[in-house]
Amino acid sequence: MTRKGIILAGGSGTRLYPITMAVSKQLMPIYDKPMIFYPISTLMLAGIRDIAVITTPHDQAQFQHVLGDGSQWGLRFTWIVQDSPDGLAQAYLLAEDFLDGAPSAMVLGDNLFFGHGLTEILKSASVSDDNAVFGYQVRDPERYGVIGFNPDGTVAEITEKPSAPASNFAVTGLYFLNGDAPEKARTITPSARGELEIADLLALYLKEEALKVHKMGRGYAWLDTGTHASLLDAGNFARTLENRQGLQTGCLEEIAFEQDWITESELRDRAALFAKNAYGDYLLRLLD
Ligand code: G1P
Repeated sequence: MTRKGIILAGGSGTRLYPITMAVSKQLMPIYDKPMIFYPISTLMLAGIRDIAVITTPHDQAQFQHVLGDGSQWGLRFTWIVQDSPDGLAQAYLLAEDFLDGAPSAMVLGDNLFFGHGLTEILKSASVSDDNAVFGYQVRDPERYGVIGFNPDGTVAEITEKPSAPASNFAVTGLYFLNGDAPEKARTITPSARGELEIADLLALYLKEEALKVHKMGRGYAWLDTGTHASLLDAGNFARTLENRQGLQTGCLEEIAFEQDWITESELRDRAALFAKNAYGDYLLRLLD
């Protein structure tokens, strides 16, 4: 079965108040694009075109305004509402009908990945039958799901926001799981903070020795947007790359065009939408 994508873009964004009081966090700008373009690009680079976007009920219309039905990028979006932020693992319950038994790649709407070779690791995770997550070294692991390793380097446990982290390796918000994920998610119970934790779902896979943890090395950037400062840093990072190389990051039209998911004339139509700015110029240059 073809792997399907899930983007979890729920949550109230209170940590970024007041800027997220009216607009969802995942629609905040990362320099010249809405944040959610990045997780969409991650799924597209993995070759995934059938994508469920999970939002809060009141933010859904704004997301639809920006993203449409996805056909402009050769994608198909299915819209799902998360009534209250009851945990990442809940996404698999909400998306159960959409997945219809298919394997999935879920990416969190605020997770930004950059790096040479990203396409290759995403593609190989996508075509593999393995369940897989990615570990990334961070200075402040206590803010994330943290990987505890056995002496032989295998994964012993994944602990959500531990006060005494077992390592500096955080689990990124990108999960390649098989078609059992909804069924497994149904068996877990809410944590002390009242959420269906992704760490508890991953623990079920770990127990069956059915979870691979790939380390993303220092050549990759996994950026955080959880504070005002890190949000600005992420935007500056994108601008620095774009300005230096003259190449866009998170450019969905470019990825779609390269994969032959949209035609030249469709790309031209998109460029016309942005005729007044550098983004539109960039799209036109892709046609040369
Ligand atoms: C979530 C997950 C955590 C993961 C993180 C990645 O945390 O619960 O395991 O490391 O995303 O962004 P949140 O940021 O939703 O608190």
